[in-house]
Amino acid sequence: ERGGYPHFMLKEIMEQPDVWSDALLGRVQNQRVVWREMGLPASVAETVRRIRIVAAGTAYHAGLVGKMLIERLARIPVEVEVASEFRYSTPIFEPGTLVMAISQSGETADTLASVRLAHELGVPTYAVVNQVGSTLARESDYVVYTHAGPEIAVASTKAYTTQLLVLTLLALGLADLKGRGRPDLVQHLLSLPHIGQTLLGQLESVRQMAESLSLKRDVFYIGRGLDYALAMEGQLKIKEIAYIHAEAYAAGELKHGTLALIEDGTPVVAIVTERDVAEKTISNILEVKARGAEAWGILDRQITGDIPVDHQIVIDTPDPLLAPAIAALPLQLLAYWTAVFRGEDVDKPRNLAKSVTVE
Ligand code: F6R
Repeated sequence: ERGGYPHFMLKEIMEQPDVWSDALLGRVQNQRVVWREMGLPASVAETVRRIRIVAAGTAYHAGLVGKMLIERLARIPVEVEVASEFRYSTPIFEPGTLVMAISQSGETADTLASVRLAHELGVPTYAVVNQVGSTLARESDYVVYTHAGPEIAVASTKAYTTQLLVLTLLALGLADLKGRGRPDLVQHLLSLPHIGQTLLGQLESVRQMAESLSLKRDVFYIGRGLDYALAMEGQLKIKEIAYIHAEAYAAGELKHGTLALIEDGTPVVAIVTERDVAEKTISNILEVKARGAEAWGILDRQITGDIPVDHQIVIDTPDPLLAPAIAALPLQLLAYWTAVFRGEDVDKPRNLAKSVTVE
């Protein structure tokens, strides 16, 4: 059942290129997103002026990527909130608001409560969900499935990256509806399964990073823009399965306080795929290095120049907007191998349940 892998988590990491193909299947044609596959009628999508994304944990981190993609491509303002906060807030819904819930299981209590709150207030709801027929899928007005297949490991991997792909399709489709189509990006999207497959075959070096990380007490993840959203997901994976204290920082925020925590040997994982701000993040890497940090980079090959990292993983991405799913792979494997080196129960981390159906 684990397909020859020692853990479900590793199996689910390795099968991502295949599930990405499933998530894209039938949803792209002639360099355009097949809008009717997105589950949201065009007549509704055309009235959307504002999107409120609600989700928990990893799905929340996918929402942060979704916000940036939708805002950059479709120019629709998006807010992302953790469902446990949203449900007890007093949201102000302007006309034209769509509430979008993201969830693997479709059973997360807080996410469901958020959708119910939107319903009570007469706001249309749209779910990005993996589990077919789940409560969230049934209760939302509109639904699109991520097609990741069953995810058994508690730590989410393939559910997250398929959420990223579906959110990318959605952003590109919404952009197209507004006359801002990007056929080049739609075409590149189809190359992601192949790129992911190649990368997964080249990540042996992540093990060395993991061996070193497994002996540390703290780790920081930094990035800007999409890379910051990825940093948040990277740090959650380490916490939940390797039980190492981890924090994600917007790279430019470090010097507003957190830099004080960097000492000799503190590991800092820098994600640098946002080409426009790469120089800025590189100077932040120099700053942590100057304080003794051990800097590890997840770097887009197109970003050249002297990048002062101790270990690096180079990734190929056709465009920075499509980097997140690719860059997630080494982050997932880093968490996986670190937990393995520490002898932890990777698939069933302590204190956590696969689906949080009670508050
Ligand atoms: C982390 C993880 C959790 C879930 C969160 C939401 O690896 O799996 O943070 O992402 O509990 O779950 P779903 O997506 O089922 O609503």
